[in-house]
Amino acid sequence: MKVLVTGGAGYIGSHAVRELRDSGHDVTILDDLSAGHRAAVPAGVTLVEGDLGDADALSRALAGADAVLHFAGLLSVGQSVKDPASYYHVNVSKGLALLNAMRAHGVGRIVFSSTCAVYGVPVRVPMDEEHPKDPINPYGASKLTFERVLLDYSRAGWLRAVALRYFNAAGCHPDGSLGEHHDPEEHVIPLAIDAVLGRRPGLTIYGEDYETPDGTCIRDYIHVQELARAHVLALAAVDRNEACQAYNLGTGTGYSVRQVIDAVGRVAGQPVPAQVGPRRPGDPPQLVAAPAKAKQRLGFETTMGLDAIVDSAFRWRRDHPAGYGRRG
Ligand SMILES: NC(=O)c1ccc[n+]([C@@H]2O[C@H](COP(=O)([O-])OP(=O)(O)OC[C@H]3O[C@@H](n4cnc5c(N)ncnc54)[C@H](O)[C@@H]3O)[C@@H](O)[C@H]2O)c1
Repeated sequence: MKVLVTGGAGYIGSHAVRELRDSGHDVTILDDLSAGHRAAVPAGVTLVEGDLGDADALSRALAGADAVLHFAGLLSVGQSVKDPASYYHVNVSKGLALLNAMRAHGVGRIVFSSTCAVYGVPVRVPMDEEHPKDPINPYGASKLTFERVLLDYSRAGWLRAVALRYFNAAGCHPDGSLGEHHDPEEHVIPLAIDAVLGRRPGLTIYGEDYETPDGTCIRDYIHVQELARAHVLALAAVDRNEACQAYNLGTGTGYSVRQVIDAVGRVAGQPVPAQVGPRRPGDPPQLVAAPAKAKQRLGFETTMGLDAIVDSAFRWRRDHPAGYGRRG
């Protein structure tokens, strides 16, 4: 298949690009490099450098495409609370521009990067796809809104869609050539690694008074390469989908921030310096996937646990102190 990957120069998108190519697909990337890295684009893959909302860039990127993997977007929970307008603009309005351009070009398949943030505060754990969706931050709400658009477009017969609700991605490509470089970095595993490597004063734990066994937030961490593999499976499943199907992508096991800190300490061979700060607005106490639907319908299963994920993330961060270097 010829696949357009929006946001393919970013963290998860670049791993998916590699996985698609390794599975024999022909890939084009549309990315404005606002948060992505040219160095993450493999030789031989066309990069259309442009904005998701730019009709001309979309037209060039979609030429001849059979399907789209849509990663491009904004993803900071904290930023979304401060600036909801940007989140709806990029994650919804510009997403609509993509869908309308797909219609105009006769491209009828899309796999969308959604998030566990669509669920809000869990009423049961682990969370399956039918769990109530009541996002507590604009980021999650913008992603849920776009899922609804996909459902309506697919019911109208305009496209076939899969929404993949990722839990927390971490780790690097097994060959060490791709990894996580967000700026600013907000994810706990890379921050804890930087703290133990002495590259930041220490890790701030946002809240120790949640209703969890050790008081810190619990998340479900999934290795980025396994996540990338799920996209290739989802692409194959799009055609046999009814309407828009959503799948959780997680391992089914949750770890607290304290447990993550301990895992980073084990891999580094020394404790992570950490201090407790106030809660961060928009953070649910725990998010853990029930991964059964992805296993049954996509044939997707994870194999890597927290220590393997942290080990992979540690290698990339230790060996790439400046990530990919300056953006662009
Ligand atoms: N990282 C996670 O743990 C996680 C968890 C759940 C969901 N997600 C979702 O996965 C997707 C990818 O996340 P990531 O961690 O790889 O983020 P990332 O910031 O590394 O990648 C996003 C990419 O999109 C590009 N982009 C952003 N706005 C654009 C625009 N208007 N036009 C063109 N390109 C644009 C950026 O330059 C970047 O390369 C996002 O949609 C995010 O919401 C990520």
